[in-house]
Amino acid sequence: MRDHWKNYQTRWHLLEPPLRPARDVVDAIVAAVGEQSSNVLLLGVTPELVESFEHLTAVDKSAEMIGALWHPAKSTQVVRHANWLDMDDSFGRYSAVVGDCSMNALQSAGEIDTLVRVVSARLVDGGTFACRVFERPDEPITDDDLRIGIDGATHGNFHAFKWQIAMSLAEQSGTPVRVTDILSRFNRLFPDRESVAEKTGWPMEVINTIDVYEQSDMSLCFPNRQEFEQHFAQGFREFEWLACGTYDLAEHCPIVVAKS
Ligand SMILES: C[S@@+](CC[C@H](N)C(=O)[O-])C[C@H]1O[C@@H](n2cnc3c(N)ncnc32)[C@H](O)[C@@H]1O
Repeated sequence: MRDHWKNYQTRWHLLEPPLRPARDVVDAIVAAVGEQSSNVLLLGVTPELVESFEHLTAVDKSAEMIGALWHPAKSTQVVRHANWLDMDDSFGRYSAVVGDCSMNALQSAGEIDTLVRVVSARLVDGGTFACRVFERPDEPITDDDLRIGIDGATHGNFHAFKWQIAMSLAEQSGTPVRVTDILSRFNRLFPDRESVAEKTGWPMEVINTIDVYEQSDMSLCFPNRQEFEQHFAQGFREFEWLACGTYDLAEHCPIVVAKS
């Protein structure tokens, strides 16, 4: 099995929203927590969020992702190589915790519950948690929907399409979804990549980013709205959902804002 994030960062330059946070998303997260937020904890090393907060502690468990993406501009920005689930009192407390789809990168529903409780414990009273999520739609995505995604007249980008495969798998066999299953499903439904590229206009090197899932040891979680709300209730009494952006699949990538 391959370490997923070690390989993932080598394809970074080929990624775009929904896999990267669009400008609107970054602006909405900054607005939700306040630009002057004194002390921000970032779940991951998302460059667009790093550059948005002057006083920031980023936490990531992948040395390779930190090595590739961590380029702080200020001495008040620090990184810690650690698992989010292990962030105990030694990590201190923060006025805000932010992330870009960090919850979806966890390996089980139980881990999401744990992270919600950890995040809540790391916030000062009145602190804010703001995080974009990939939300599985209530209306299941069918194989016919996926075929229309290739054969239809209009096309979103490949990453949005790949996430629709993942969300349909999550609906059929339950979340979490093994990323090797996303690759197998794509290869089974669309064995001719040249034809896919021709019909959609997707560059072959972008389509081939899906091969990073080959032999990967990773799963991704795609809860629906109701499931996310059950998770957030583990640590927060109040939360709201912000729809944000016009990028491909933005309708399934809201931002949750929760107050401690
Ligand atoms: C934040 S998530 C989602 C990707 C996101 N869209 C971005 O722009 O960074 C990706 C990062 O989470 C990190 N990660 C995943 N699970 C983690 C965990 N349990 N503890 C710490 N870091 C974790 C990975 O190493 C990776 O760098």
